[in-house]
Amino acid sequence: MKVTIVGAGNVGATCADAIATKHIASEVVLLDIKEGFAEGKALDMMQTATTLGFNTKIVGTTNDYTKTTNSNVVVITSGIPRKPGMTREELIGINAGIVQSVADNILVHSPDAIIVVVSNPMDTMTYLTLKKTGLPKNRIIGMGGALDSSRFKTYLSQALDKPANDIHGMVIGGHGDTTMIPLTRFASYNGIPVSTILEADVLNQVAADTMVGGATLTKLLGTSAWYAPGASVAYLVDSILNDQKRIIPCSVFLEGEYNQKNICIGVPCVIGRIGLESIVNLNLTVEEQSAFDKSAAAVRNMNTALDGILS
Ligand code: NAI
Ligand code: 2OP
Repeated sequence: MKVTIVGAGNVGATCADAIATKHIASEVVLLDIKEGFAEGKALDMMQTATTLGFNTKIVGTTNDYTKTTNSNVVVITSGIPRKPGMTREELIGINAGIVQSVADNILVHSPDAIIVVVSNPMDTMTYLTLKKTGLPKNRIIGMGGALDSSRFKTYLSQALDKPANDIHGMVIGGHGDTTMIPLTRFASYNGIPVSTILEADVLNQVAADTMVGGATLTKLLGTSAWYAPGASVAYLVDSILNDQKRIIPCSVFLEGEYNQKNICIGVPCVIGRIGLESIVNLNLTVEEQSAFDKSAAAVRNMNTALDGILS
């Protein structure tokens, strides 16, 4: 199985590393426009193969899309990351141009690929990719909810002082500080609802910390995070390539699900070999549905920035 990752920067390279070390694909192609950059990252990673014990072949290329031919999955991380004080929304103009040209190039060489969109603002970039490529909705998947959910579970494990792998939880809605919705009602520790073991104010703080999870890291690091984003993409790619059929919150095109249409936004999805296999319909409370509607309105508002690009 072959994966191409466009953008060999922080997130792209970390994702390639996770895919190789976890034996998710037999070949990873890293592509970047910076001369020699992807080649360098690929060579450096290949030199860990014998010590880390993987057989995945990692190839780097400077903008040569022929190397990406017949990829099963293509991940788009190319773009500029958010800088301190910069909103995801401000990234839109620059990243829209990049994502659009990358998607065009990908499909010339891998017409059957499933495309995973990571570049921010991710929900809007996913919508742009879907509209511009005209591909069926199962083949365009935005990654954001997997990351936000992993942050949610981390903060829950810290609040509970329990192992992170014993925690389940999901974040839906837009991938933005004010738009994501940590579903505290559905979160559990080994099947026990966390709402029965954590005080309401602690649970509210966990949700608040989750929502600013990306911004917290941007402030600390001076650029946006990469370890958890790269690992989250690899987790999603694994579910596709190895037909795991995991339920992962992803940004996908809605046609009436969760009372929304003509938008890409995070909802729980079954992810398998064809990409999006199905959308899981949770029975939301009035408050949760209202938060989802507000989130959709914010994403839709951001999508209006694409009006000139999509017309
Ligand atoms: P980075 O700056 O480290 O890497 C981006 C890479 O893209 C650079 O190496 C750059 O040369 C390359 N690039 C730019 N234009 C290109 C083109 N046309 N073709 C090929 N490569 C091109 O940035 P980082 O930290 O890896 O972030 C990448 C994107 O992912 C950003 O938009 C960031 O906001 C987003 N992001 C999204 C997350 C999510 O959960 N959806 C999480 C973390 C980051
Ligand atoms: C993150 O959530 C900025 O989307 C990026 O870390």
